[in-house]
Amino acid sequence: MATMSNNLITQLNWRYATKAFDPSAKISDQKLNTILEALRLTPSSYGLEPWAFIVVKDQEIKNRLMTASYGQMQVAQASHVIVLAVRTDVNDQFVDNFTSTKEQAAGMPAGTLAAYNGMIKGSINSLTAEQNIQWHKKQAYIALGFAMAACALEEVDSCPMEGFDASQFDDILGLKELNLTSAVVLPIGIRSAEDKMAMVPKSRRTDVIITK
Ligand SMILES: Cc1cc2nc3c(=O)[nH]c(=O)nc-3n(C[C@H](O)[C@H](O)[C@H](O)COP(=O)(O)O)c2cc1C
Repeated sequence: MATMSNNLITQLNWRYATKAFDPSAKISDQKLNTILEALRLTPSSYGLEPWAFIVVKDQEIKNRLMTASYGQMQVAQASHVIVLAVRTDVNDQFVDNFTSTKEQAAGMPAGTLAAYNGMIKGSINSLTAEQNIQWHKKQAYIALGFAMAACALEEVDSCPMEGFDASQFDDILGLKELNLTSAVVLPIGIRSAEDKMAMVPKSRRTDVIITK
């Protein structure tokens, strides 16, 4: 019987960066919800969850995002396009809301997390606004990994993408008004039978594990 870990490795071999999706194939709500739940469960530094995940299924919006992705067709053809965005408003007030929400949820007296609150503010205030966004983007890439693994286990195809114009994405999706900016993109769907990339054998270096 296949063990869970064997299953994971089998599915990580099954997945590949899908260049051509079947535009008529839509993924089920059940699979989509599993992938979105994996995104939501992603851990982040201090638990700040400095992100939002925009799920685009509207064809007209996907077409515009495709144009803003240097014409990469997988964006228009995918069943759904997930845009992993990070917050631009992680400031002292955000941290105060964050720790008070945690205190309330755990039934702790107000101020219990004061030291934690101060530590987080120390981190964010030691960085410029741009450095904070870069830090949050690192967290978004963890979410990208969780989502790709969830897709693989659900047999949903995906293509991680950095090849897009973030400011155009932000305009198309109205992200600035939401204090968000696009970090990385994941079109998901079902591979086209025509996708030549599906035939390419998985290729990985064998010298990347260093044991001491
Ligand atoms: C962060 C990231 C960004 C990527 N950006 C693109 C992209 O814009 N367009 C594309 O076709 N593939 C993109 N790729 C796919 C990689 O080329 C692909 O994952 C890599 O060659 C390994 O192949 P595999 O995913 O099929 O195993 C990206 C992958 C990652 C992880």
